[in-house]
Amino acid sequence: MKILVTGGAGFIGSNFIRFWLHRHPKDEIINFDKLTYAGNLANLKEVADSPHYHFVKGDITNPQEVRKAMEGVDWVVHFAAESHVDRSLEDPTVFIDTNIKGTYVLLKAALELGVKRFHHISTDEVYGALPLEGEEKFNEKTSYHPRSPYSASKAAADHFVLAFYHSFGLPVTITNCSNNYGPYQHPEKFIPRMITNLILGKKIPIYGDGRYVRDWLYVEDHCRAIELVLTEGKIGEVYCVGGKEKDVTNLQLAKMILKIFGRKEEEWLEFVPDRPGHDRRYAVDWRKINQELGWQPQYSLEEGLQKTVAWYQENEWWWRDTKKETEKFYQRLTERRKSNVKNN
Ligand code: NAD
Ligand code: DAU
Repeated sequence: MKILVTGGAGFIGSNFIRFWLHRHPKDEIINFDKLTYAGNLANLKEVADSPHYHFVKGDITNPQEVRKAMEGVDWVVHFAAESHVDRSLEDPTVFIDTNIKGTYVLLKAALELGVKRFHHISTDEVYGALPLEGEEKFNEKTSYHPRSPYSASKAAADHFVLAFYHSFGLPVTITNCSNNYGPYQHPEKFIPRMITNLILGKKIPIYGDGRYVRDWLYVEDHCRAIELVLTEGKIGEVYCVGGKEKDVTNLQLAKMILKIFGRKEEEWLEFVPDRPGHDRRYAVDWRKINQELGWQPQYSLEEGLQKTVAWYQENEWWWRDTKKETEKFYQRLTERRKSNVKNN
């Protein structure tokens, strides 16, 4: 089996490549990645010398580069995207190019080249926000209500993927998953930002009142879900993937991490201006993938966080430089949000 993975130098893509080659050592993987600020080949050092792994630097918005890399491929697993909500609020342009146009370019090439399976990685954010109080969860039938430029671009991409199935018969599947965390996640995202801040002796920045809820999924559990959908999922179907625990607020999550570090919460939390249009609550109902394919998350949040903290503590070489750049971005962002609060 020859698989083209887009965005394989990013967080989930690189975890997936290592996972797949470990479980399917005879398969061949081509990692097609532009190496944006979020891509890092060091994520793949364990497999870099494998004859079953090849890296191609390329841009999914470029039809020639895509076609060349996709020739002779059996399956496509599409991770490549601009993935950070805060960046999409600063400038949506690249989100439209990469997430919408890039997905379209891949779909078109896959159709022309007769790819046998096209799996698209999407997000629960396309469904919008749930009220803080309540039992409601997102599922495959929930209607789309994206609220940020990031989620709007992912929603558009999802619609194109399904349009290529219905209109042209491209064999597609989609997974809409919740917030991933684990090793090799860029320190711009909340969990690695908290951990790396604490390692450096800095406080945890909490947006707004911290009463925002995400559904946390350990990245290895996500990789197993993708594997099952690729090998046993039904063509044309969408599967929602989420974590074990529900309704953990950002404040509670921060306190769980502080507990792992053995630090007192009142000294290490800092409330900062909120993200505009901040989605209140996400919760994913993963009964379909459980009932049809037998998937369920293996890691509790507690276990996943322990492993993640240990990984960042042991791999400071991986994040130290990136962290400096990231915090410059956040400094500018926080100043802007503070001045917007003042002016309103
Ligand atoms: P990431 O930002 O860590 O990695 C994205 C990768 O895509 C990088 O390696 C980057 O270089 C590459 N890339 C970006 N633009 C490209 C382009 N034009 N051409 C080729 N490569 C390009 O992202 P991630 O967190 O690993 O997310 C992967 C996918 O999963 C995305 O589609 C994202 O929307 C989706 N997703 C992520 C989460 C999460 O919690 N991280 C949750 C749900 C869905
Ligand atoms: O739900 C899936 C989505 O999860 C993915 O599609 C996105 O690619 C991924 O980035 C993630 O989006 P979020 O916006 O939920 O993740 P982020 O890590 O940026 O923020 C998680 C929560 O933490 C959110 O409520 C905002 C808050 N937050 C974030 C940062 C960076 C803080 O309170 N402080 C922070 O410093």
